[in-house]
Amino acid sequence: MKERLHQIRREATTLIEEAEDEESLESLRIKYLGRKGELTTILKGVGTLPPEERPQVGKLANQFKKEIEEAIKAKKKALLGTRPLRKEGWVDLTLPGRNLPLGRLHPITQVMREIIECFTKMGFSVATGPEIELDFFNFEALNIPPEHPARDMQDTFYISKETLLRTHTSPIQIRTMTGARPPLRIIAPGKVYRCDSDVTHTPMFHQVEGLLVDRGVSFAQLKGILTAFAQAIFHRDTRLRFRPSFFPFTEPSAEVDIECVICKGAGCRVCSDTGWIEVLGCGLVHPQVFRNVGYDTEEFSGFAFGLGVERITMLKYGINDLRLFFENDIRFLGQF
Ligand code: FA5
Ligand code: MG
Repeated sequence: MKERLHQIRREATTLIEEAEDEESLESLRIKYLGRKGELTTILKGVGTLPPEERPQVGKLANQFKKEIEEAIKAKKKALLGTRPLRKEGWVDLTLPGRNLPLGRLHPITQVMREIIECFTKMGFSVATGPEIELDFFNFEALNIPPEHPARDMQDTFYISKETLLRTHTSPIQIRTMTGARPPLRIIAPGKVYRCDSDVTHTPMFHQVEGLLVDRGVSFAQLKGILTAFAQAIFHRDTRLRFRPSFFPFTEPSAEVDIECVICKGAGCRVCSDTGWIEVLGCGLVHPQVFRNVGYDTEEFSGFAFGLGVERITMLKYGINDLRLFFENDIRFLGQF
């Protein structure tokens, strides 16, 4: 019996030494020390041995049991140092972390910033004005008197008889000119409001106003700056067209269209089958506007423009419905 015990110990020690993971250590523990394990069985059977053998066998078996337990424990510790244990409940500090999803800028904000950067590089500084505006700045000082039919061009949300949600960023032209002397060169980005809704119109949208006043300003300079702008925002071969138009605060006036990116000029729902999408209005500042702010029309001339940021974003990314920008669908917004 003693011989058998020594054999078990030798065998167990070698196997424990050779074990490569926690699982095999556990099966060794069961093999020798489990409820039906080899050593356990011998210990249980000590009582059936001849009386003179009992003390020695019992002592030896207990001693080997302890030794094997120690060996398993030591080996476990050694394994812990060399390889990560994948058992549940263990934290493996060497695993890479999980990234948190980042938010991103709304496409309108991105394009707005691009537009601002483009003009600030050309020497324009940024001006702002209130979204709740006086009728005076939004219409009257821009040469649009109360009964003027041009008020119908922009369906206005009135707050009271004198206050309204600004329908364009042009009132900032007046606010800027009444507070400064020429030469001046500003852009004015902001939200504007009109009672309007279809694939190219929303009730709230963004404009960037531009105003340059100096001596000897010409329409050719306006064309040059707007062409440089379109080529910077789109690409070098972007086609744009200046179409004669009317604004009470500019003379002559034009609207600028960019070739429809959805149909490449062939005509579709987005461009109302014209092949072009209007992105801005512009012109040389009307002398009456200069008189309204006290500028000498003999000495100064200037140009102004007001561009629609949603329309530009639409063209830049080939989006066929402007209302998508305001539905806040994360699957749509996540693409930019
Ligand atoms: C104006 O608002 C003039 N203030 C522009 C101007 C400024 C002319 C300075 C001359 C000198 P208009 O109503 O055309 O013009 O609007 C300008 C641009 O805003 C349009 O070309 C279009 O790109 C955009 N826009 C107009 N209405 C909407 C709308 N409901 N939704 C989205 N974009 C619009
Ligand atoms: Mg227009």
